[in-house]
Amino acid sequence: MRQSEALLAARPGMYFTGYERIGGNPVFIERAEGARLRDIDGNIYLDYLLGFGSVVLGHAEAEVNRAVTAALQRGVNPTLLDIAHLELAERIVDLIPAAELVTFLKTGSDAVDAAVRLARAVTGRAHVLHWGHHGWHDWCSPSPGVPEASRALLHRFAFNDLDGLRSMFDALPGAVACVVMMPYEIDPPQPGYLAAVRDMAHDHGALFVLDEIRSGFRISLKGAQDVFGVEPDIAAFGKAMANGHAISALAGRREIMARILELGLTVTYFRSPDAMAAALATLAILEREDVPGRLRRLGRRLMDGLDQAAHSAGVPARTVGFEATPFIRFDHERISDRERALRLFCNGMLARGHLMTPAHHWFLCAAMTEDDIDRTVRAAEATLRDIAGTI
Ligand SMILES: Cc1ncc(COP(=O)(O)O)c(C=O)c1O
Repeated sequence: MRQSEALLAARPGMYFTGYERIGGNPVFIERAEGARLRDIDGNIYLDYLLGFGSVVLGHAEAEVNRAVTAALQRGVNPTLLDIAHLELAERIVDLIPAAELVTFLKTGSDAVDAAVRLARAVTGRAHVLHWGHHGWHDWCSPSPGVPEASRALLHRFAFNDLDGLRSMFDALPGAVACVVMMPYEIDPPQPGYLAAVRDMAHDHGALFVLDEIRSGFRISLKGAQDVFGVEPDIAAFGKAMANGHAISALAGRREIMARILELGLTVTYFRSPDAMAAALATLAILEREDVPGRLRRLGRRLMDGLDQAAHSAGVPARTVGFEATPFIRFDHERISDRERALRLFCNGMLARGHLMTPAHHWFLCAAMTEDDIDRTVRAAEATLRDIAGTI
């Protein structure tokens, strides 16, 4: 029996439900370094999930580790503010177009939840229009256990559909506190779309909250708001900001952000300097080495390679999404065949040492090399040939 299976049999309570998403047996990681994971059975995986998008430089990046170690030596939770707190706030105000004031939290869910509460406090309204994934908190989760009263205040609109959004505003006159959305997930926003959403929100007295937890510091150091030319009232950041360390940020217009002090966001661990130091080191490397540019180049190479592989194998599939967060879409006629092909693809890639998920797009990190990408393309060629013979 593999060591990881033996461990799991001994302690079934340790099963982590996320594993079914990667389509393989549970693995326990012994070491994560650069773009690779080694499990306790000695298997090596090229990691395209990367701490669910948080590890933008690569695992165990030395410069970030040194900064974190130095911060830990100054004290883990020093009651008041460590100087890194101020430096990080200034850095974000310098980088992010819409950031006049900043506050730090721990997770993406924290940050978007705080943005929604802030929008409700500022507008005195309760309803929220949204598009995308924003975490697990009650205001946005469809899970059992969320009170119906909370669910009734959330309305999902369709991406790139301004008419649909307008009808929602018309149906809730004077009742919408904010529009909360990711700037994109796979398909890009149509030109001018995000700015038009913001303007429509403002016309209806609502705030525009951009959830940049996934896009921030990855598509560009200045965020998706700079790439797509839209200034939100409030923006939430996390993931790529600290190379895997737990920190998120809320940034936005001064007069709105100043009201955050009314919200009672007092959490014991919000000011831990290790995460601040990790973020400062990560942002320095992202800028110095133009990591967003590197991810774009590597991603383009991967997407071109996968498209070519699908073509050669005669499988109806094409890559989609942004280069730093690419994905593959299968175009079989039947939806069940498309879903099966995607599962087979990710399982086949896992068997060939590539950690990918069918559940959402993948991530690239700066530690990946062109050789890694070419290795992935070769694994995909073999996997797609198998799929061609199956579906
Ligand atoms: C766009 C977006 N917003 C919010 C979240 C929630 O972040 P966290 O998992 O850190 O709570 C995620 C997590 O995947 C996300 O992708």
